[in-house]
Amino acid sequence: MRSHLGVPFMSRLESEEHKALAMDDLMHSLQQHCIEQGYPISFSTFVIVAQKYKMSDLLERTRAVQQRWEELADCYAANVAQLALKLGRAMVQEMKLLDARSILEAGCGPGALTLDMARLLKDRSVRIVATDITEAMIKKTSSIEFPCAVEVAQADAQDLSAFSADSFDRYVACLSLMLVPEADLMIQESFRVLSPGGIAGFTIWGDRKRSPIFTCIEEAYATCGHSVASGKRSNFYLADDEPALRDRFLKHGFRNVVTWHFGTVAEPFDIDSAMEFMRRTPMFLGLELPKDLETRFDEELRKILSKTFGEGIPLQIDAIIILCRK
Ligand SMILES: C[S@@+](CC[C@H](N)C(=O)[O-])C[C@H]1O[C@@H](n2cnc3c(N)ncnc32)[C@H](O)[C@@H]1O
Repeated sequence: MRSHLGVPFMSRLESEEHKALAMDDLMHSLQQHCIEQGYPISFSTFVIVAQKYKMSDLLERTRAVQQRWEELADCYAANVAQLALKLGRAMVQEMKLLDARSILEAGCGPGALTLDMARLLKDRSVRIVATDITEAMIKKTSSIEFPCAVEVAQADAQDLSAFSADSFDRYVACLSLMLVPEADLMIQESFRVLSPGGIAGFTIWGDRKRSPIFTCIEEAYATCGHSVASGKRSNFYLADDEPALRDRFLKHGFRNVVTWHFGTVAEPFDIDSAMEFMRRTPMFLGLELPKDLETRFDEELRKILSKTFGEGIPLQIDAIIILCRK
């Protein structure tokens, strides 16, 4: 298995958040470095230290995401993967898969969409490669008995340097772009590995108002006077400005960038089933719910879900599907 540590991408970082965070440590490291080496500050020293800092910070944040998914893998595979599959299907359905010769999947999770694509393409001569950063997910995908050859590898979607440029004509990433620390790196890598004319498809968290699955636990918890880790970037952050989202892809060279919303539904009718579903989600399992709050929390959750159903919204995830061409 490949580690994601040997990454030559630091110089491509652009986020303002990074620059601001980096500055203090950067100047300190630079000073230390110059003292240790006994030479005056030069521009190239500055660049080397800046790159070192950014790289270690990025790796740390990437590892934190990976760690979380190592813990969530079983719960996600058992309870959410089939829901995500409906979304993945809606995306690949528009990607002219039957014309594909080589497909790279990034953030494949437990491999539900990989299996679906393999079933569809089993009689064709197509190279299918499924990747994910999380070892537990890679184990799950590797254990699937695919109906045709599928390569499974551990890789960071922000650094696909194990794969040559222009080597795939389809790139698929379902529900992972909003998780990686640097979405631009992931988009840039998807562009690099695609051959000219190739199609990329991504899905991300969409409209929070139409995603009770992602919001109701936090909301019920807040009503009980608690809050889930603050200061964390919201997974809805890319969806908040859809024209800006499309611009990110255009900026990296993609054309024909289109986005649309898709709702994937867990339970359209019944509050009791919705409550049961929510208790099995990673959102609920990640909650440290004090024993004495359990009844109150259940009541609040039930109220929120009743209101949601009352507004005609099923227990669902709203996602944005993004398709584009190199
Ligand atoms: C919400 S799950 C989606 C899994 C699968 N695509 C699906 O639709 O069921 C997100 C996946 O992204 C993976 N992931 C997170 N950060 C990643 C990264 N930097 N590179 C590759 N995969 C990553 C996680 O390990 C997890 O398997």
